[in-house]
Amino acid sequence: MAEVSRDRWMNRSAFTMAAIGSAVGLGNVWRFPFVAYQNGGGAFLIPYLVALLTAGIPLMILEYGLGQKMQGSAPHSFAKVGKRWEWLGWWAILVGFIIVVYYAVVMAWCWGYIYHSFTLSWKGQAQDFFYHKFLRLTNGPGELGGIRWPVVLGLTLTWVSIIWVVRHGVRRVGKVVMITVPMPVILLAVFVVRGLTLPGAMEGVKYYLTPDFSKLLEPRVWLAAYGQIFFSLSLGFGILIAYASYLPRRSDVNNNALITSFANCGTSYFAGFAVFSILGYFAQATGVGVEKVVAGGPGLAFITYPEAISLLPGVPSLFGVLFFLTLLTLGIDSAFSLVEAAVAAIRDKWNLSQSRATWIVSLPAFALGLIFTTGAGLYWLDIVDHFVNNFGLVAVGFMEAVVIAYLFGAERFRNYVNRHSEVKIGRWWDICVKFVIPLVLGTIILWSLIEELKKPYGGYPNWALTVGGWLVVILAVNLGVLLMDKKAFLRFSLPASLAVGLIALLVNFAPPMWVMFIISAAVLYGGLALSLHIAHKKQEVWLDIEDEAE
Ligand code: PHE
Repeated sequence: MAEVSRDRWMNRSAFTMAAIGSAVGLGNVWRFPFVAYQNGGGAFLIPYLVALLTAGIPLMILEYGLGQKMQGSAPHSFAKVGKRWEWLGWWAILVGFIIVVYYAVVMAWCWGYIYHSFTLSWKGQAQDFFYHKFLRLTNGPGELGGIRWPVVLGLTLTWVSIIWVVRHGVRRVGKVVMITVPMPVILLAVFVVRGLTLPGAMEGVKYYLTPDFSKLLEPRVWLAAYGQIFFSLSLGFGILIAYASYLPRRSDVNNNALITSFANCGTSYFAGFAVFSILGYFAQATGVGVEKVVAGGPGLAFITYPEAISLLPGVPSLFGVLFFLTLLTLGIDSAFSLVEAAVAAIRDKWNLSQSRATWIVSLPAFALGLIFTTGAGLYWLDIVDHFVNNFGLVAVGFMEAVVIAYLFGAERFRNYVNRHSEVKIGRWWDICVKFVIPLVLGTIILWSLIEELKKPYGGYPNWALTVGGWLVVILAVNLGVLLMDKKAFLRFSLPASLAVGLIALLVNFAPPMWVMFIISAAVLYGGLALSLHIAHKKQEVWLDIEDEAE
């Protein structure tokens, strides 16, 4: 069914551009330069490139190859590998759905900031402006405050654009990315040229690229490199699986993965110059050290960089508009790739029209996004983002590698992609998906888990982390299983989640004596009950056989 009516890209470049558009996003500007700076500057490029070659490119080949071979979205493709793995695809889709809910809100802020660029409203008080005037930030996640209508307006604009593109399927995606991919790169080039010709710029670049090789001995730096590669290439959301499923079966896999990966990482590296040259100028203009002004995340995009822009000679307003236009065009193709991945999954499952499925994904995403437009929005955004990135997508990537390497068979998969590809991959790929990726991603998950339990993230209250973090992650898994099969949900994932929840409650609130009492009693007597139950069942089988023999 899916085979006959499947949409197709108009040509190969439409596909590669769309994939690059998905990978190149806000993270290239606000995440990479900052992570590089924190983790050894120029020396960070070594673990970064190693991560690219041993995890980024191999996993991208995996996602492209899977989507193209199975001709379906993530759930559909995993179901074809093994019926019981469909939930993994749904999980990826749901994690992506959660991301697009708040990604769109960040884009909404960009619309607002374009408006404020004309008067440079934040000049001289960027931090106060962002937190208090623009967001009306409350005192904590428990105090919602009101909805910020200007942000809702931006959110509406964002969703209208996303729906306008995705509703018409990959044909329109293919056309739109011809503009939204080159445009931010050109705009970044404007900032690189402007930045590098300012006094103090070189000081900034020095911070970005001066290698600190001693950092290479810290495992944390290597984990940061793998985490960054993973996030940056948009792996683990089912996006690339969905995009590749619109390619005819005979298309190239490996070389497309190389093109996408190098284009994305090249853009990140380039963006670092736009960020650090301007920060260098900013430091010089305000007479402080560069280390005082570096920042990442929303703090960079909505506080530090705008402040630096307002000090530019000439027409700073123009650069304000251009900067937020850069962010918008960077973000939009990532956002609609997330929506398209979900739309493809829904269409594969329920056979709906593209337009119908687009509305089914977009309206709830818009509605949920309203939570992030309140005065507590930034807190919730920070919590959800942290958990989803640390435990959502990395876990999906881990499972993807395990399922393909051990259930489908690494060698069988490699032979398939090699048959269709311009560049052949060797046994090294098997080693990466069988050992390197599970090992590294597994370590990242464990490591983050330990960090999480040691110290609550960001100093937020525990209930907020439970609701915005753990609950969201656990719900996504459960919903994934439910979408696959109701029975499996009732028998496995729901009881398992309840058990985890119960243990967490106990550990948090019950005295240690009671915890030990309940756990030992549950293991001993639960185990006894279970084994007696099994014995009873088996005995019936045994008696049946006995009867037959007579
Ligand atoms: N790759 C994007 C970035 O670097 C982040 C992203 C991931 C966006 C997944 C969409 C989907 O910004």
